Amino acid sequence: MAKILVTGGCGYIGSHTVLELLNKNYEVVVVDNFSNSSFESLRRVQKITGKQVTFYEEDIRNEEAMEKIFSEHTIDAVIHFAAFKAVGESCKLPLKYYENNISGTVGLLKVMDKVGVKKIIFSSSATVYGNPERLPLDETCRLSTTNPYGSTKLMMEGIMQDLYKADKEWNIILLRYFNPVGAHESGLIGEDPKGIPNNLMPFVAQVASGKLQCINVFGNDYDTPDGTGVRDYIHVVDLALGHIAAIERCTDAGVHIYNLGTGHGYSVMDMIHAFEKACGKTLPYKVCPRRDGDIAACYASPDKAEKELGWTAKFGIEEMCESQWKWQSGNPRGYEA
Ligand code: NAD
Ligand code: UFG
Repeated sequence: MAKILVTGGCGYIGSHTVLELLNKNYEVVVVDNFSNSSFESLRRVQKITGKQVTFYEEDIRNEEAMEKIFSEHTIDAVIHFAAFKAVGESCKLPLKYYENNISGTVGLLKVMDKVGVKKIIFSSSATVYGNPERLPLDETCRLSTTNPYGSTKLMMEGIMQDLYKADKEWNIILLRYFNPVGAHESGLIGEDPKGIPNNLMPFVAQVASGKLQCINVFGNDYDTPDGTGVRDYIHVVDLALGHIAAIERCTDAGVHIYNLGTGHGYSVMDMIHAFEKACGKTLPYKVCPRRDGDIAACYASPDKAEKELGWTAKFGIEEMCESQWKWQSGNPRGYEA
């Protein structure tokens, strides 16, 4: 079976993807420096699947160490999750983001080029569509960014496009995720944000568990059905399966770009109500001013992924909220003992 190297495999999306790769009998090598994770997620993935992962605690920017890892394994493809992802922090510390995301990716690509592994699946984001040109967003929509984090994603897409132009042997798959939420059905792995969550659903989950007091709804005067922001929330397990579809179906050299979303937009209030149903509690919320840089609505056209990868999202917002609640209520302190 093919051997996949996963960078950032201890993180939220990475751990769920490693689990699905193991379920499909892939051999998996993970590289992570624990800058936003710990080994506990992989320990649990191994427990759930009953399978082992080869793990290296390493920074992907250490090219020498990365070359050594490639020399110890016959790697067929790389799934590259390792990056920083907090939009707000990227505005305050842009160089930290350019350094880790851009230098890390360039270093990784250099090593892959040197050792002749030329297939990469890259974690891009709907953030590259900036303020949407039209909805639903398809892969041909105009690209732009509104913050340094988004700029790193757009630049990395460009770097990989240039790489393919220079060397037509590369097989590059750019996956633009919409809003990943939820957790594995076991309730043993999930998102474990440090400090107060920036994103809506982990915040809602922590209000439901009593860790936080009240949900802040950032604006109810958008041009959307109920005035609150609309997003395309996608179950993290569906997202993980999208990576496997991409590995298996994108076998030709080229740059292949896919949106991974459900195609449905839900508002902040829709998500709060769905979560209330899942946890069986009424959740306190208050309407606050709009958050800087937010857009009114963003949702995908997932048609290309369905047509070419044979992939569609299977889970709805009920499963997203139920699984997120199972993870949150069973692990109120995340992966901390
Ligand atoms: P995460 O922070 O949970 O996972 C990222 C992992 O990469 C962490 O385990 C971290 O320790 C590791 N890492 C970071 N820099 C590293 C380095 N230099 N060397 C080795 N390991 C390093 O984030 P996530 O939510 O799982 O996101 C995974 C990827 O998907 C990221 O590239 C992110 O930008 C992208 N993405 C995430 C979202 C989202 O909302 N979660 C949306 C779109 C795209
Ligand atoms: N929101 C609130 N209260 C909160 C947090 C968020 O009302 O406490 C609202 C936002 O205003 C927005 C919606 O909930 O309308 C979703 O916000 P998130 O912060 O959960 O997600 P974003 O769409 O802003 O951004 C996320 C990631 C980005 C990524 C993007 C698309 O944070 O990195 O999805 O993938 F680029």
